[in-house]
Amino acid sequence: MFKTILSKEIQNYINANLQSDLHALLLKKSPFPEVSMQEIVQQIKGKQVAQKKFPFLLKEGIIFPPQLSLEQSSSEKTAMYKSGILKGEKIVDLTSGFGIDAYYISKNFQHTFLVEQNTDLLEIVAHNWSVLDKKADFINQKLEDFLARNKEHFDWAYVDPARRDTHKNKVFLLEDLSPNIIEIQEKLLSIADKAAIKLSPLIDLKYLVSVLPQISGIDIIAVKNDVKEILVFLSRQSSESINCRCINLESAESDFNFQFGDEENAYSEFSEPEKFIYIPNNTLLKAGVFNLISEKFNIKKLHPNTHIYTSDQQIENFPGRIIEMEGIDGKQIRKKEPYNIISKNYPLKPEEIKKKYGIKDGGNKYLIFTQSLKGKIILKSV
Ligand SMILES: C[S@@+](CC[C@H](N)C(=O)[O-])C[C@H]1O[C@@H](n2cnc3c(N)ncnc32)[C@H](O)[C@@H]1O
Repeated sequence: MFKTILSKEIQNYINANLQSDLHALLLKKSPFPEVSMQEIVQQIKGKQVAQKKFPFLLKEGIIFPPQLSLEQSSSEKTAMYKSGILKGEKIVDLTSGFGIDAYYISKNFQHTFLVEQNTDLLEIVAHNWSVLDKKADFINQKLEDFLARNKEHFDWAYVDPARRDTHKNKVFLLEDLSPNIIEIQEKLLSIADKAAIKLSPLIDLKYLVSVLPQISGIDIIAVKNDVKEILVFLSRQSSESINCRCINLESAESDFNFQFGDEENAYSEFSEPEKFIYIPNNTLLKAGVFNLISEKFNIKKLHPNTHIYTSDQQIENFPGRIIEMEGIDGKQIRKKEPYNIISKNYPLKPEEIKKKYGIKDGGNKYLIFTQSLKGKIILKSV
C-alpha cells in the first residue's frame, strides 16, 4: 500500500532533498502526479528527525508519519533504557504511536501487542515492523475498548500518553492526558502484573505519589543531563517503599537511588565555599533531594535555596559536576576572558552577568554567581 511513495524515483527525489528548505519545497509542485508535495515533505521530515532521534529507522522501505507522531515518539536512547527494565513473556503497549518504545521494549518479550487508535499510524507501524522483520499483534482500537474486552494476561502494560490537548498546548496533569491514567490505573493492573507509564519531566513527583496508590518506583531519565522523561512503575502487589532512580544516560557519572520520602527525614549541613564545589545533575534537582545530597555524600550546602554543595576533600562517585574553585571579588574578573557562566539563586541571569562584567562565553573555566549564608558570592575555577 505504500508502493507509490517507496518507488525508486520518488525515494531518490526524497534522498536528494534531505537538506532542502522544506517550506520552500512545499510551495513547489510535486514532480510526481501520483503523490503530493506534502506527502513527499512528510517523508523528508521523517528522515531528518530519524537522523537524530531514531537512526535505526534510516533504512530502505521505512515510511514516516506526520510531524505530530514524530514529535510524540520517544528517542532511541530512552527507549533502549526501558528495554533493559521491562522483561517477560507478553507485553502490551497501549499507546503504540510510531512504535519506537515498543520496538525496543519488545526485545525482551516473546509476544508483543500494540494498541493504537490512529488507523493510518498503526498501518505505517505494521508496515515498518515487517520491513524490520519484527512481529507483533497490531490492534487498531481505543485502549479503553481494548481494556474492556481483553482476555489476555500480560507481564507488563506500557503507556505513553499523548501529552497535548486539543489546542496543542502541553499539559502536565494526569487527568489532562490521553488516556486519563487516573481512570485506567486499576484496569491496567487487572490485565498485567506490572505497568510502566512514561510522563513529562514537568510532572510533580509528590502529586504522582498522591494520585497513584499502586506506585512502586519512579525513574527520572536524562540524556546528557537533559531530563527527558519520568517513568512510573505500578505493581499489583502494594509496595512498602517507592524506589526512585536518577539516571543520566550517555554520561560516565554515577546514578543516584533513593526511597521516596527519604528527603523528608534528611538534613543539610551548611558552609561557606571550600575547595571543591559540587553541582548535582538535573535528575537529582528534579527529584528535589536537596538535603539527601548533603547527608548521603557528606558535603555541605551553600544556602537553603542554593543547590550547590562544597567540601574540603574531593568525594568519589558524585552524580554531577565537581569543580575546584576559589571565591573572588567582581573586580578581579578580567574583561573579554572566556568563561562558562553559571547563575544559581542569584539576582542576575547569565546574559546580564556577561554584559555587566564584559565576559565572553566559552572556554573551560567556570564562574559561578550564587549566594551562601553570608550573601552574594562569585566563585572562579582554579
Ligand atoms: C506519545 S504517543 C506514543 C509514542 C510511542 N511511545 C513511541 O515511542 O513512538 C501517544 C499515542 O497514543 C495514542 N493514544 C492516545 N490516547 C489513546 C487511546 N485512548 N487509545 C488508543 N490510543 C491512544 C495517540 O494516538 C498517540 O499515537
